[in-house]
Amino acid sequence: MKARSLESPGKRAQADRRIYLVSMVLPLALCAAPAQAQLRVASPDGRNEATVEIRERRLYYSVRRDGRALLLPSLLGFELQGAPPLRDGLRLVDTTRSAVDETWTQPWGEVARVRDHHNELRVSVAEAAPPGRRFAVVLRVFNDGVGFRYELPEQPGLRDFAITDELTEFALADDARAWWIPSNRPRLDRSEMLYSSSPVSVIDSVQTPLTLETRDGSTFIVIHEANLVDYARMNLRGARMENRTLHAALAPYADGIKVRGRTPFVTPWRTIQLADRATDLVPAVLGLNLNPPSVIANTSWIKPMKYVGIWWGMHLGAMTWSSGPKHGATTANAKRYIDFAAANGLGGVLVEGWNLGWDGDWIQNRNAFSFTQAYPDYDLREVARYAHAKGVKLIVHNETSGGIENYERQLDSAFALYQSLGLDAVKSGYVADLTSEGHSHHGQYMIRHYRRVIETAAKYGIMLDVHEPIHDTGERRTYPNMMTREGARGQEYNAWGGEGGNPPEHETILFFTRLLAGPMDFTPGIFDILLERGTGRARRPEEPRPRTTLAKQLALYVVLYSPLQMAADLPENYAHQPAFQFIRDVAVDWDTTRVLDGKIGDYVVVARRERNGPTWFIGAITDEAGRTFDIPLSFLTPGRHYVAEIYADGPGANWLTNPLPVSISQRAVTAASRLRLVLAPGGGQAIRIRPAR
Ligand code: NOJ
Ligand code: CA
Repeated sequence: MKARSLESPGKRAQADRRIYLVSMVLPLALCAAPAQAQLRVASPDGRNEATVEIRERRLYYSVRRDGRALLLPSLLGFELQGAPPLRDGLRLVDTTRSAVDETWTQPWGEVARVRDHHNELRVSVAEAAPPGRRFAVVLRVFNDGVGFRYELPEQPGLRDFAITDELTEFALADDARAWWIPSNRPRLDRSEMLYSSSPVSVIDSVQTPLTLETRDGSTFIVIHEANLVDYARMNLRGARMENRTLHAALAPYADGIKVRGRTPFVTPWRTIQLADRATDLVPAVLGLNLNPPSVIANTSWIKPMKYVGIWWGMHLGAMTWSSGPKHGATTANAKRYIDFAAANGLGGVLVEGWNLGWDGDWIQNRNAFSFTQAYPDYDLREVARYAHAKGVKLIVHNETSGGIENYERQLDSAFALYQSLGLDAVKSGYVADLTSEGHSHHGQYMIRHYRRVIETAAKYGIMLDVHEPIHDTGERRTYPNMMTREGARGQEYNAWGGEGGNPPEHETILFFTRLLAGPMDFTPGIFDILLERGTGRARRPEEPRPRTTLAKQLALYVVLYSPLQMAADLPENYAHQPAFQFIRDVAVDWDTTRVLDGKIGDYVVVARRERNGPTWFIGAITDEAGRTFDIPLSFLTPGRHYVAEIYADGPGANWLTNPLPVSISQRAVTAASRLRLVLAPGGGQAIRIRPAR
């Protein structure tokens, strides 16, 4: 038995509380262990337990909660190009154990402080026959779930390798209900589909996070991954109705290889978040705890903010990205948006379509984008100077359309230019299924690219908002400049998408699925719900538009977490709108998050307290059904007097025929008060609870 610290000095410096680690080596006694030998590791509260075992010389893991099997023995291993699979003829070599309990502070987030409390078991195995290749599986069991990853140590029999298939299984014990989006549809929108729900046994091929509810409703399971750095993204493939086993399905290179590597090598963590109630899934910190601490020492320049943008006008067709009479990104227009942001205390202005490359088919012409040269009617330096003078940050747009080599060639010079102009935020975009080099949008090639962009951005002091991104695997812990991303169907679909816009239930599903991975740049805040002003006419019922009430648009600022939160509508649509005060007031950085009520696909009620302040916000949203909630305010500080500023659906409001009425009222409240929230069909409610003066 020996004691050692597994943590890097940086991690130790961040930790507020550090407990010891104990590692136990159970060496060769177990080499000759009977085939049934099971190795177990439990969560600190003892409820979750992971087991590793060798059966018929193959390695399996399983997961139980409160003694009930959730994942049955599930295979581990790899298929490799030009070598036998790393799967068969295995024997146990040794095991080590350790434990961690520390609390770390986020520079920004859904919660300020995160506790990493887990027990770890590392199981090393080797092929019994030559070449005797070795690998290990490391499991960490937390009170909120399990993470495991593979380690491939440096060894003569395994140097350079090419993974053709990761054999990891998730053999669900129960035909749980799943909420999912497909992963095998070649469409231009990647993760931008509407969610479906079905028993897991009929799943074909889906993306993660995959949220599951056991049939008895007692357990929620979320399968995802963490710390995806130099690997392919994991999707999940079903067994086509044969059973309930999901298989890891890695996104490929153009030549079909999934991952290229060289030992020593570690994979991303496969994560299985567990909770008794859907509402306990948020805030989701399992993946953050499985990422290394920040490598950015001084994070003071990284600041959450609200922003407006030359953006919705293009999606409505009132402006263009390309040059011409409707060009949105003109110097004068940018100054108008900067003035609006400054006048309303919004931190940033996004300008899309400022750079050369948008004329013609900008998806086909992706290698023509310049990231430094502006259209003649947009004076980048002058706009940067003006924004700076007004105390507003300019968010520079970089659409790549998947022209990765074109972007990488310009990355350093572009980011250096932005830095020299004092511009410290970039919104990037990857509208393409395959890169111009033919690789999957989610494969190792792109994972490496996204990481290169994050690192380069950190070097030049740039915050990132990535659209058409790789899914969030907790990068923000290590690189807090990686702030937010899209990676789901956002508001833009309400301008031009099919199905008449996102259905009223959409955001109540996003909250329990996509948002468990991390923040989302959904871009809430459309006030002209009928889209009359941007387009000059009301939409016909079958045409897309936001299928929400106006009060629900406000509630989304609290429900759908993002450290960069857009006020998405045209500035003129906020004029003379008393409800706009909520967008001015709402916080973008949180100390505490509490989900007060929620049901996947039906409704969500969340309370969050602002970082470094006493003010609370509540956001409540519902699907197409009207609902009433009775909310105790017991989370407020006892004995303190507060004022609740309430933005509720007005009389007769409903998303379909009357989405605009908002009733704004104030009420004195304390921790002993209860609020009755009445939500219209497709409606919502937004509340600011500030200390009484
Ligand atoms: C898709 C992004 O999601 C959207 O925000 C952007 O305006 C367009 N691409 C153009 O880059
Ligand atoms: Ca998009």
